[in-house]
Amino acid sequence: MQNIFIKVDEKEYGPVTLDEFKTLVREGSVSKDDLVLCENSDEWMSAAQIEGLKRFFPTNGKNGGHQCKLYAVASGKGGVGKTVLTCSIGVAFSSMGSDVIIVDGDFGGANLHTCMGILEPEYTFFDFYSLQKDNLSQIVLDTPIENLRIISGACGTLGIANQKYFQKQRLIRELKRLPADAVFLDLGAGSTYNTIDFFLLADEKILVVTPEPTSIYEAFGFLKVCVMRELNRALKNFPEALEIVASDEINKPGKTCLTLGDLLQQVKKINEEAFNVFKNVLENFSPKLILNMVKNKEDLKEGRAIQAAVMELLSIHLEYLGYISYDHEVGVAVKNVKPFLLNNPKSQASKDLSALIRVNLLGKKGIKEILEKYRWRKQVENYAKEFPERADFLQDAPICSTNCFYWGDCEYEDGGKPCRVRHLEPRLKEAN
Ligand SMILES: Nc1ncnc2c1ncn2[C@@H]1O[C@H](COP(=O)(O)OP(=O)(O)OP(=O)(O)O)[C@@H](O)[C@H]1O
Ligand SMILES: [Mg+2]
Repeated sequence: MQNIFIKVDEKEYGPVTLDEFKTLVREGSVSKDDLVLCENSDEWMSAAQIEGLKRFFPTNGKNGGHQCKLYAVASGKGGVGKTVLTCSIGVAFSSMGSDVIIVDGDFGGANLHTCMGILEPEYTFFDFYSLQKDNLSQIVLDTPIENLRIISGACGTLGIANQKYFQKQRLIRELKRLPADAVFLDLGAGSTYNTIDFFLLADEKILVVTPEPTSIYEAFGFLKVCVMRELNRALKNFPEALEIVASDEINKPGKTCLTLGDLLQQVKKINEEAFNVFKNVLENFSPKLILNMVKNKEDLKEGRAIQAAVMELLSIHLEYLGYISYDHEVGVAVKNVKPFLLNNPKSQASKDLSALIRVNLLGKKGIKEILEKYRWRKQVENYAKEFPERADFLQDAPICSTNCFYWGDCEYEDGGKPCRVRHLEPRLKEAN
């Protein structure tokens, strides 16, 4: 669609191209109710009514029109696949027609942009926190996929890594107000207060676990810390109940003698109101589990085993979304700086992820859905064909350092980043 005319506050503008129109919407200069006239039409209509333009005005957020659904992706242990999954889940949702923003919430090791083939993000969270950009939509960047955008993380910025609770609430509020249908927040590993609070404040909480004991223990520990933090906050007006929660064996590291169900019963004996608050916390906390890097049938059992243990010990319903096979194609995609769903849509990991999202995350079943599946697959394949190759990304490039032979003469000198002097082989100075 070309030659779009716009009427804002009785003034006419245009013609603009579709791309220019999109930019105006994103800047907030055009709203869904502004009138638009397109070629092939002799009638001014509100922008959101026009086929081909309405996708720029997402409306189906769960929380009533202006809010999008916020998904947080976390794990106890690091390196279990949160970032690669966040990228590919984002691609999957956008290929089904949703407007998606993926957000790098790993304030210690931001790398989500690299997985999307963006090597040097123009803006990051740093611009937001250093007040150079005053709202989040100003740091949203385009990706090679039209309805998938990204907020890139700011690596190693201490102030961001230690936010106050009200700052986190504000950030979550802003994330939910972004102009999108769904926002996916890729969190850092571990049980820092940042990660826990962002996870707890999200609408949908996804926990990624691999079928290894370390990953499973740490995931269980993460959930336990999450639920304890919720309980401490919710029960702050019930000191006797808090005492029961705080003093019990369940708080001892690596040891869970009493279950949360036992504690709940103890609280019931002393205070009915506190009992109801406690029960609500347990009922309302319903994270979802993805088992990643599954190698065999034995591994597969771990999904249900974790679910059962969490129910027994923490009285929490952990919904098992399904598994992704261990697939070397995921590593290949990382090297090609592409989401694995696009690097090879036919790989086992891509197939597993597609099934998991359609059937378990979105609950799509039945004949109509099967037909839709083929359209969706086609769209993913089209995206895959169009996704740019980043031949300029040097996987084995040395890291730029003051020890480089050319330090002092080089025009880049971005210490810590991959060397960008592609035609030279930087040599390290001999240590003297
Ligand atoms: N299903 C899979 N099959 C094979 N390799 C995988 C799979 N999922 C992830 N990986 C590999 O695991 C590595 C870590 O993935 P990723 O960076 O997404 O983990 P992470 O949980 O985000 O790590 P961190 O906690 O450091 O942020 C990547 O190199 C990726 O190739
Ligand atoms: Mg990561």
